[in-house]
Amino acid sequence: MTSHSAGPVVAIVPAAGRGVRLGASAPKAFVPVNGVPMVRLAVDGLLASGVVDDVVVVVPEELVETSAQLLPDNVRVVAGGAERIDSVRAGIAAASNAGIYLVHDAARALTPPALIARVVAELRAGRDAVIPALEVADTIKSVDLLGGVTATLNRAELRAVQTPQGFNGDLLRTAYAAVTNDSDITDDAGLVERAGARVRAIAGDPLAFKITTPHDLTVAAALLAATSAGGAG
Ligand code: CTP
Ligand code: MG
Repeated sequence: MTSHSAGPVVAIVPAAGRGVRLGASAPKAFVPVNGVPMVRLAVDGLLASGVVDDVVVVVPEELVETSAQLLPDNVRVVAGGAERIDSVRAGIAAASNAGIYLVHDAARALTPPALIARVVAELRAGRDAVIPALEVADTIKSVDLLGGVTATLNRAELRAVQTPQGFNGDLLRTAYAAVTNDSDITDDAGLVERAGARVRAIAGDPLAFKITTPHDLTVAAALLAATSAGGAG
């Protein structure tokens, strides 16, 4: 554990993906859930947490100007890259002074502000890398290319990982500086694990699920309608 570095809490919101699995006509982060684009919902959640100083949203290059219209004035927008890792790197470069980074997928549009605050509280308490994670309900097996089962994993040791993932600023900058382009790592914590840092998993929240498929979008719309009707915002 290192003491956390001085500087603001910066949230980087990767929103530059194409959303191939969702299959909508617009890039996924710009697809509305009950009228509000996912990226706007995700940013509103970060701002509502009360623990974020700056927000940098990373979008497809052709949507930088459009995005500025969709988002609050104090949110910065930069162009992303081909892979998620390239987009996060662009966000880090735009906020190189952060004491703490939160990296939070636009596609996790319904993430409760309280979860965001819990991640930051753990970092402020001195942890270097904190990720929300859920126990898995299904049994997970590994398979070969033809679908032959090669192993059954011990479910008790497995977690499904969410965002926001939070990091000491120096740690995330160093981990990204060491990235090679052949990386098959699918989350930011994977990079800091490879750099040798300890990552702490805390309890995630089912509402922080990633909207990936049309099914997920239907579920998100129903959940959002239910919370709005209940006045829980
Ligand atoms: N992302 C990004 N830049 C990329 C790829 C992904 O900023 N080059 C962002 C997405 O916009 C999303 C988050 O990373 O908010 C998680 O990625 P994912 O859910 O895979 O979104 P997409 O890549 O857009 O979806 P798909 O993989 O189905 O194309
Ligand atoms: Mg993707």
